[in-house]
Amino acid sequence: MKELQTYLETHRERFLNELLDLLRIPSISADPQYAADVRRMAEATAEHLRQAGADTVSVIPTDGHPIVYGEKQVNPAAPTVLVYGHYDVQPPDPLDLWDSPPFEPVVKKTDLHPEGAIFARGACDDKGQFFMHVKAFEAMLRTHTLPCNVKFMIEGEEEVGSKHLEAFCQQNHDLLACDVVLISDTSIIDNETPSLTVGLRGLAYMEVEVTGPNRDLHSGVYGGAVANPINVLCQMIASLHDKKGRITIKDFYEDVEKVSRKERKRLNAAPYDEKAYKKDLGVEALWGEKGYTTFERTGIRPTLDVNGIWGGYTGEGAKTVLPSKAYAKISMRLVPNQKPEKIERLFQQHFEKIAPPYVQVKVKALHGGLPVVVPTDSVEYRAAEKAMELAFGKKPIPQRGGGSIPIVAMFQQVLGAHSILMGFGLDADNIHSPNEHYGLFNFYKGIETIPHFHRLYAEMKAARS
Ligand code: BES
Ligand code: MN
Ligand code: MN
Repeated sequence: MKELQTYLETHRERFLNELLDLLRIPSISADPQYAADVRRMAEATAEHLRQAGADTVSVIPTDGHPIVYGEKQVNPAAPTVLVYGHYDVQPPDPLDLWDSPPFEPVVKKTDLHPEGAIFARGACDDKGQFFMHVKAFEAMLRTHTLPCNVKFMIEGEEEVGSKHLEAFCQQNHDLLACDVVLISDTSIIDNETPSLTVGLRGLAYMEVEVTGPNRDLHSGVYGGAVANPINVLCQMIASLHDKKGRITIKDFYEDVEKVSRKERKRLNAAPYDEKAYKKDLGVEALWGEKGYTTFERTGIRPTLDVNGIWGGYTGEGAKTVLPSKAYAKISMRLVPNQKPEKIERLFQQHFEKIAPPYVQVKVKALHGGLPVVVPTDSVEYRAAEKAMELAFGKKPIPQRGGGSIPIVAMFQQVLGAHSILMGFGLDADNIHSPNEHYGLFNFYKGIETIPHFHRLYAEMKAARS
């Protein structure tokens, strides 16, 4: 215990510098131009696992980006923890909104991070977070305090839907056999209010194409006589919500799990400062489904958002055009027990139905994922709860996360293992946005919490058998 703490203290600076080096690699999975950097990032991750002391470390090719795997078996009688994370990042654009270049990390203080935060794409999502596990693992090995067998699986396609990881898990069922999956890729409420994520939303991501006339037209010659597909698309999108902020797609809410009064009360018990929330986002008022709080709107209710809309002329100056086509990317966040395939079908049927006769629509599904609920009455949850309590001095609050990690439902189905979602980011850390950052407090707090988890989990498992 003491020795481990000393080890963490002694190597603080090096841990940070190693992370900064990883953040300099632009491992953008969505953009094929960066494939070599993604590969370089996979190699660097593997090298860190080797240096830390993992055995059988490999960079496993897929039809997409490689998977990094490594493990350490300490005792066949001890439980096995599978650490999952992702080394890929979102594209950094729009670049001009960053205060410093996204792949040149800098440490700066902020209101929420008075001890400093690392600004870089991937700092919080998820390089800074998966790397905490590598460093905690290193510290446990060096101080001979690693109580569990550990497997690492760090993938490079989370931000693009984990397509190839799914097949990999199915084919490598035995390699990945574990008692629990441990993931740091979510947030805590704030640095004084630890929380454990007990739910993730699912996802159904659609792209629509609306076609009007068979070619672009002069908007003066034809405007007024021919429907403009961009105008039509906007009207169609606007009709997807009613006045109460509810989604109008037929049967959309059919499978939504009714959350008990007790659970709603538990979710709303977490501290929430609406004024600060609005101020941070620069909005005068919030919007959402009537009858639900902010935590409920992001945690237990499904939603629909346009992620992008384009068509016509968007260059410099003006061009008077009545375009032939308009497009939008529309995603829906799902909650238990909604299924992406069914929601995709309902969306497609609805969108085709509401299309007026003067346009044609094409709808396709891009990717999806199932929602997740983490049971709170398991050994692993109790170990995680206790680990956070030791590190923060406060019991963590169970909280439903609004984001999605589609592979988590797969772990449950294919490996039969529950996941512990023990993330350390803040919602205000700007993941996927310009100026993404990760607090130094959060980075070190994570490295401190993880060994507690391994120790408590091993102890609690042993006590039960
Ligand atoms: N780490 C996030 C998910 C997340 C963030 C969950 C904060 C809970 C709180 C993850 O990297 C992510 O961004 N996932 C995508 C889904 C994917 C299919 C692109 C998402 O949620 O949009
Ligand atoms: Mn992530
Ligand atoms: Mn992400």
